[in-house]
Amino acid sequence: MTVQGLPMAVPVANLPARVRIHEVGARDGLQNEKTTVPTAVKAEFIRRLAAAGLTTIEATSFVHPKWVPQLADAEALFPQVSDLPVRLPVLVPNERGLDRALALGARQVAVFASATESFAKANLNRTVDEALAMFEPVVSRAKAADASVRGYLSMCFGDPWEGPVPVGQVVRVCRALLDMGCDELSLGDTIGVATPGHVRRLLTELNETDVPTSTLAVHFHDTYGQALANTYAALEHGVTTVDASAGGLGGCPFAKSATGNLATEDLVWMLQGLGIETGVDLGSLVATSTWMADQLGRPSPSRTVRALSHKDSAESTEPTAPTESQEQ
Ligand code: HMG
Ligand code: MG
Repeated sequence: MTVQGLPMAVPVANLPARVRIHEVGARDGLQNEKTTVPTAVKAEFIRRLAAAGLTTIEATSFVHPKWVPQLADAEALFPQVSDLPVRLPVLVPNERGLDRALALGARQVAVFASATESFAKANLNRTVDEALAMFEPVVSRAKAADASVRGYLSMCFGDPWEGPVPVGQVVRVCRALLDMGCDELSLGDTIGVATPGHVRRLLTELNETDVPTSTLAVHFHDTYGQALANTYAALEHGVTTVDASAGGLGGCPFAKSATGNLATEDLVWMLQGLGIETGVDLGSLVATSTWMADQLGRPSPSRTVRALSHKDSAESTEPTAPTESQEQ
């Protein structure tokens, strides 16, 4: 029986049965807002995301407050949400960031490398190798403290300064992050230029250099509308962790032309239609993103949020998703 406001589930062979969504709206989304969102609103956003069924919610970053002023309240925010029964990863670029995160009891941290020199410089004020050297003690100390470590890798497909990024360059930094001890790698299409064949090639070459698919997550920005197609290519390859941002919030203040992440609602709609479990309640998530859009004073760019949040008022005139009986 199909519920109105949800797609009909039609499974496809050889796709994963379950996907873990790594929600990045409160970090990747809010780091890029022109105005700084009040701490209490951020905390309420994270609580609502957890109530909607998301189990991994990136909370904030312990970076230099002058570099990312929107997340300068990390010390005030984290204790307001740390009682939630979900994973709350935080970004830490260096040992100073790790100290701040561990002092508040963070159990999951993420370092963030770049496949290109230009972005390493813009984002971390370091070369690629200097940044890797900066992460080494962060990863080993985090592991010693029993925290899990995600390694982000930005500019895996294209870079706004350097153009298309050779796959070999990406593979080298992935290997370095794994050898350092990262538990998981998130492949970032920071400016959203990837296409499905490119995704498949990168994942295949990573496997050929002994990077197992089970350690990989994908992190697509939706600049050119390719994020869902790219996600589907990754699912076909066996990836089961997908990053997304509630309402499609996001971007990167250090990469011109980076727009919002893949919207979590658009992802959930597709996964639900494929019969893939996520544990997320789409209605609650849409309500959360609609509430957040009101806080930010602008509509969500997510197609699914727009379609479902207008549904109530337009129900008498607009067709809804087909029910099973309508389809037969
Ligand atoms: P730097 O200027 O080279 O820093 O910045 P430094 O190491 O020379 O230190 C300078 C001062 O900063 C020192 O203070 C440090 O203590 C302080 P002073 O002694 O002068 O008083 N400092 C800190 N203070 C608080 N917290 C810290 C910290 N570190 C140093 N953690 C640094 C280097 C890495 C700090 C800086 O470049 C930085 O904070 N960058 C963060 C950039 C960022 O957050 N970018 C967005 C996240 S990445 C992203 O969005 C991409 C992703 O979504 C994936 C994708 O889409 O591709 C993940
Ligand atoms: Mg990002």
